[in-house]
Amino acid sequence: MKIRNINIQIEEYDHSGLLKKPELHLLEQAQQAIEGSYAPYSEFRVGAAVLLENGEIVKGSNQENAAYPSGLCAERVAIFHAKSKYPDLKVKSIAITAISDNFVTKSPITPCGACRQVIAETESRQNEKIRIIMKGQEGIVQAVNGIENLLPFMFKEEQLKKSKRK
Ligand code: THU
Repeated sequence: MKIRNINIQIEEYDHSGLLKKPELHLLEQAQQAIEGSYAPYSEFRVGAAVLLENGEIVKGSNQENAAYPSGLCAERVAIFHAKSKYPDLKVKSIAITAISDNFVTKSPITPCGACRQVIAETESRQNEKIRIIMKGQEGIVQAVNGIENLLPFMFKEEQLKKSKRK
């Protein structure tokens, strides 16, 4: 038996003012996207903004449903919208933030497991990593270059390839 350690890297900025201008702008777009959120059940409104390789920004917000699992997270709304509108354009980065109606979000909003898997698929489809920028209403900003930092040991397309039976 041997133990293998996987190294991940997360950048931390004390506040969003330390980000480069285009990243601050993307985060502001994610904040704006919250306006479109429909979250009457969780009262947790999430916004995401996707930057495409042509500079276009596509926004998304969480859309809930009385049948809870029928809702969708902000990140997947934004990415699926971006890829259906511009299937050939690469996703460069995604910014995520959220506001709760009941408390102040003080730590960065990190994508759920299902959204991480969708970001992973988007990376492998375009053969290029995606930068992920995360923030709450207040506090630090976290950023990673590539989903492997949030989803180590992920399930990938290669695992679907069957080796031929004899
Ligand atoms: N949610 C997102 O939209 N993105 C995340 O990264 C975390 C969770 C949504 C799903 C649901 O509408 C609400 O936040 C509470 O989980």
